Order: sequence, then C-alpha cells, then structure tokens
Amino acid sequence: MEKYTIKDAESGREFICRDDESIFRAMHKSGRSIFKGGCEGGGCGICKVKILEGEYVKFKNMSRKHVSEEEEAQGIVLACCVKPLGSILLTKA
Ligand code: FES
Repeated sequence: MEKYTIKDAESGREFICRDDESIFRAMHKSGRSIFKGGCEGGGCGICKVKILEGEYVKFKNMSRKHVSEEEEAQGIVLACCVKPLGSILLTKA
C-alpha cells in the first residue's frame, strides 16, 4: 500500500491519501476536507474537482449529470470516484 500527498491548489492544504481509498475519503479522514457533506457514491456532484497534476484511476462510475465526457477528458472528476496513483494537485471545479 502506497500513500500519496493530495494538495488543494486554492488553499494550499495537503492531505495524505492511500492508493486504496478515494481522494474524497482521505480528505474527510484528515478532518479538513474542502467539501461539506457528500454522497460518496458518484451521484451528488459536490466533490467535483479538476486534477491539475498527477496520475489517478477511476474506480466508480461518475454521474454524467455532473461530469461530461469532455470534462472528464480534461481531468475533471468526482473525488469520491478516483484513487491516486501518485501525488496530486487539484482544485475545486
Ligand atoms: S460525494 Fe457525491 S459525487 Fe462525490
């Protein structure tokens, strides 16, 4: 199991995220999430972020209501649906 640093470009806050948990979960566990609440299931869209740097993998389907194919191609994802493959720099989308 690997651990990576997730950084929010806007606030400069950093979180540690394991490679077997979602970025959303790691932020919540840190107690300093940039999101308030959330379904954690890819449905509500509150956790929409743009990945500015770093590799990640999608492990849950994201609602097309919240992330279009074009957005996904630009690195816009739901944080509850992706796991890191390395350190990540992101911002709220
Ligand atoms: S928390 Fe609802 S879509 Fe991620």
